[in-house]
Amino acid sequence: MADAMDVDAPPQPPTVVAGAPVPEAPPAAPLTKKQKQARTLAARPWVEKYRPASLDELVAHKEIVGVLRRLIKNDKLPHTLLYGPPGTGKTSTILAAAKDMYGQGYKNMTLELNASDDRGIDVVRNEIKEFAGTRRLFSSGIKLIVLDEADMMTNDAQFALRRIIEKYTANCRFCLICNYANKIIPALQSRCTKFRFSPLDPEQVRGRVEHIIQEEKVNINRDAIEALLKMGRGDMRRVLNVLQSAAVAYPQEITFESLFLVTGNPVPKHIDAVFQSLLNDSFNDARKTLHDMCTLKGYALPDVLTLLNERVLDTQLPRRMKAHLLAKLADLEYRCAAATSEKLQLSALVGAFVAARALAPAEA
Ligand SMILES: Nc1ncnc2c1ncn2[C@@H]1O[C@H](COP(=O)(O)OP(=O)(O)OP(=O)(O)O)[C@@H](O)[C@H]1O
Ligand SMILES: [Mg+2]
Repeated sequence: MADAMDVDAPPQPPTVVAGAPVPEAPPAAPLTKKQKQARTLAARPWVEKYRPASLDELVAHKEIVGVLRRLIKNDKLPHTLLYGPPGTGKTSTILAAAKDMYGQGYKNMTLELNASDDRGIDVVRNEIKEFAGTRRLFSSGIKLIVLDEADMMTNDAQFALRRIIEKYTANCRFCLICNYANKIIPALQSRCTKFRFSPLDPEQVRGRVEHIIQEEKVNINRDAIEALLKMGRGDMRRVLNVLQSAAVAYPQEITFESLFLVTGNPVPKHIDAVFQSLLNDSFNDARKTLHDMCTLKGYALPDVLTLLNERVLDTQLPRRMKAHLLAKLADLEYRCAAATSEKLQLSALVGAFVAARALAPAEA
């Protein structure tokens, strides 16, 4: 029985039985190496698939790109420190610069270490030294060592790096990348030229996103594109990841609502309803509305707090009431981050609104 099911069993000559259904077509020929490669490429996450291949493809940070381009052109690339929030193109920029500098052979000339590699003091001493110290056949010139997520390096490793940077300056350039520059020891900071990557402007993200939408033939309506850009808050990685998940989950059409469903972010109209209830209903009713929404829709309280904060800021409310609510929302967010019971914080949130109402008449 098992043999009969074995797909690798040698093919038997077909037995033709009168009236029997026509045998199915033989299984498709195995994929060639090229086809397999094409499939793997197509299956890559879009953040990788659409990582800029050259400095020209980078949107935003035109000044930084311009400066880097000039430095590369004059063979004067200094040690650099790229810092700024996630998904703003730091890693992409230095990889694109490496490709522009070295062309096809850029991998031989670049050593890239990130947080997934062990970067204790031994790695700094050995791996970097080995790469920096060896000369490669058929290739000459300055090598590039990229230390991504450098803020995760131990202090000892950072101290060790100080000496290494100086020792190998003749044939290596170091590029440190991190989210927080202040986590890099001052001695290293002073050895590098710093470039700050600010969050991307939604308008800068728009062009790239629309290009990807076209390439991938994504069906998405206008409202959803606007919401997607807003949701990204300057982080292009987040935008592309949300777009890809939504494209898989809603192949017919990505709408404004489906975008929120796929990310688990609260739908704006649900927040509006809760906000109105918190401002007008009795304590018990408002608590029930909020509780039902959080449990039925699966919203996390910190996300609700962030959006309520926006509503409070955008709504015309008496000054004292607004100030009280903003302070309370910030306190609640802090408490949620300290992993306190969400149930208690939820009641406290309703309490804050009910107490704030008492402040309204005093102003009038
Ligand atoms: N300026 C940009 N131009 C074009 N694409 C970008 C840009 N910034 C980010 N991206 C896109 O977002 C993805 C993530 O960018 P990248 O890895 O460079 O971010 P990062 O700044 O290094 O973030 P992190 O601090 O989390 O490492 C890239 O693969 C690319 O597709
Ligand atoms: Mg990065």
